[in-house]
Amino acid sequence: MAPVTTTAVRFAPPVIGRGEIDEVVAALESGWLSTGPRVRQFETAFAAYTGAPHALALNSCTAALHLALLAYEVGPGDEVVTTPLTFCATANVAIHTGATPRFADIDPHTWNLSPAAAEAAVTTKTRAVVPVHFAGRPVDVAAFRALATRHRLALIEDAAHAVEAVSAGRKIGATADVTCFSFYATKNLTTGEGGMLTTASDEVARFARTASQHGISRDGWARYKELGSPHYDVLFPGFKYNMMDLQAAIGLHQLAGLAARTARRESVWGIYDEGLADLPLGRPAPVPSGDVHARHLYSVLVGPESGWTRDDLIAHLATRGIATSVHFRALHLHPYYRERYRLTRGMFPEAERVSDQIVSLPFGGGMTDDEAWTVVDVLRRAIPGRTR
Ligand SMILES: Cc1ncc(COP(=O)(O)O)c(C=O)c1O
Repeated sequence: MAPVTTTAVRFAPPVIGRGEIDEVVAALESGWLSTGPRVRQFETAFAAYTGAPHALALNSCTAALHLALLAYEVGPGDEVVTTPLTFCATANVAIHTGATPRFADIDPHTWNLSPAAAEAAVTTKTRAVVPVHFAGRPVDVAAFRALATRHRLALIEDAAHAVEAVSAGRKIGATADVTCFSFYATKNLTTGEGGMLTTASDEVARFARTASQHGISRDGWARYKELGSPHYDVLFPGFKYNMMDLQAAIGLHQLAGLAARTARRESVWGIYDEGLADLPLGRPAPVPSGDVHARHLYSVLVGPESGWTRDDLIAHLATRGIATSVHFRALHLHPYYRERYRLTRGMFPEAERVSDQIVSLPFGGGMTDDEAWTVVDVLRRAIPGRTR
């Protein structure tokens, strides 16, 4: 079949404006590249944006998740309950502490970790529950808070997808014991690589800040500012998880441009919702009132009723110049977790169904309506509609 379009629609290109570029140049010219004044400014702005008392800029969401677990002294012999429908980092950080990830199935409607399934997975060894706001859809924070309180667990939210999300009127970032954001290149707010940890706890914030800089009592900027005081103490063996001023330079302007990019995402979301409404594809469910979806990924489920397998449809879209991605193959279907924790297909049937059928369409704050309609057009030609 001849291609119907030659337009290449990229998956999620970053939106970088003059502000980001000029600020990076200014940072380069400032004579201070690593963690310094721009990181502090970015942290202050992000704390104000989320309403969280503390924000700590890091080099990734993975680092934030790791420090969050360590802050709650999660370690060998402990268990951490999370969803299998996530990026491997969510589970890997638990393993890095010496703990065991315990998966629980997702809710078939929201594709988020089911609070009931999570509760059933809690044992006497469980120390933390880590729900993921999948694709930007906020979890039912109140349900997870109640679960955490009942079982005395730390509530750590993986908000890699959730800059902009709101659960029952409360901004994600100010709802958990610790919230962990990603600023990876495809995210709603990017610094290339990067992350942010937010918390209301002075103690967690103090630990995480020190742990992110080798366990050193004073960071490099503080030592530099206070001329003549080069000394520091190593309080414990920490990590090298700090964010650079070069990254924060991008982040500051990305934060300021969030509303404009969100408006673009809303527009593309609306086109997909409208254009795909009568096709036999599973689409993201609307959120209840009081919640705000962060619109990070627009993923559809390609089931047998579509006439396609997911992977054949991905290949077909690629021949039409349309880039897609898969978020995610359920973790228990990957060799490491399957073999190490003796997990088998059939244990988490809802996550497996989504894992087998899901594909993320091109989506992002830099996408035009025309590009979105191109994707819709190609899908409509490939998949017969219910009403046609
Ligand atoms: C759900 C989820 N958690 C954690 C991460 C890790 O984020 P980072 O790459 O910033 O470490 C990602 C990355 O995409 C993710 O999708």
